[in-house]
Amino acid sequence: MPRPSRRKLLAAALGTAAAAALPAPAFAAGSSLAVSSWKLRWAPDPATDGLAAFETVEDDRAGSHPAGHPHILPQGDAYRWNMHLVDRDTTTDRQRQEVTGMRSPAGGPALEWLPGQSWRVTYAMFIPSSLRATTTWSDVLQLKQPGTGTLPILVQGLRRAGGAQTIELTMPIAGLHIGDTGLDPLHDTWVDVDLRITVGDRTSGSVRWVLRRAGATVIDVSRSGVDTFLADRVRPKWGIYRSLNDTSGSLRDCYLLTRDMRGYQLVSGSSGVYQAEEARISQGTVETEHPGYSGSGYVNLANTEGSYLEWTVQAGAASGAALDLRHANGSPAARPMDISVNGAVVGAGRPFAPTGGWDTWATTSLPITLRAGTNTIRATATTAAGGPNLDRITVR
Ligand code: GCU
Repeated sequence: MPRPSRRKLLAAALGTAAAAALPAPAFAAGSSLAVSSWKLRWAPDPATDGLAAFETVEDDRAGSHPAGHPHILPQGDAYRWNMHLVDRDTTTDRQRQEVTGMRSPAGGPALEWLPGQSWRVTYAMFIPSSLRATTTWSDVLQLKQPGTGTLPILVQGLRRAGGAQTIELTMPIAGLHIGDTGLDPLHDTWVDVDLRITVGDRTSGSVRWVLRRAGATVIDVSRSGVDTFLADRVRPKWGIYRSLNDTSGSLRDCYLLTRDMRGYQLVSGSSGVYQAEEARISQGTVETEHPGYSGSGYVNLANTEGSYLEWTVQAGAASGAALDLRHANGSPAARPMDISVNGAVVGAGRPFAPTGGWDTWATTSLPITLRAGTNTIRATATTAAGGPNLDRITVR
């Protein structure tokens, strides 16, 4: 949902007569480009940062099971949460081993998620088959206002639905179910989580939740126009927080692992880099087989007509811009794609010529026009060979 422009907000605050006297927004193609892109703010290394990467660590805060200590620990390149059947939270109908927040640098100040800001966390998650979905609630990630006395704003949880194990994203305060997918295929394997939030009220708040397994998208759901803020700020919590009132007999000693934890904030600048792996992917997988990519991988689009990547780019004002696309094409033939902006094709059948190998990357450019607010940029394969491998786009 487009955010109200500053001009509209001023009009509301000042009354239309005063707003009418304001100068029209400056517009000069290419000269005042302001686009928002994800800036890495947090990338803890379990081995060197340990638990100092987090704002708080609540390891058996009720002191219910000292013999099990530590329940939360770095383990190689991962973080680990252990949950034993005997562990109890201060309220004894539930269990809780959690960390909150993101300190950057480790031991330094906590990053605060405030209204009007957009944040994104990505990480790989390992849910062993001993950590089963339950008939009540088993949360493995929450976004929440710090402190007690409020429900979480957003929950990634494991729930039995009609006997089937699912992983779901819900918004308990708003009473919304954003999406779910079967948990069975995600057990005992690393699953990539990509969660984004724009902190705001019902006019400006939004969330997006993506799970990928072996590079393939399992679920990619989003919701805009949702209230994602209570008061103070929003803070992530990782770990296991679950009710003991399960009626399916699913509770076991179990654990949870995470690795490659990253926190990003959406920031505005005169150019923006958008990785292929942060796009909406239709028929393609995130891969790392061929070196030379930036970010955490590239996307191998399916060898089929119509496979595409779609990025969302926020622009501060309408503007002309240059769009760079970085690709590799180790096949002997071009892999043409249509490039469209906001649904209109601006580059039909762009060739994406052979680069001489899948490890050899090249950049091609075309001019585009952005509108103020949310823009979509899509690259769609136009032949049965599908697209090239795409690493990223740059808008400048
Ligand atoms: C090879 C290569 C892939 C590429 C594919 C293709 O399998 O390893 O990275 O995407 O060819 O032809 O599209």
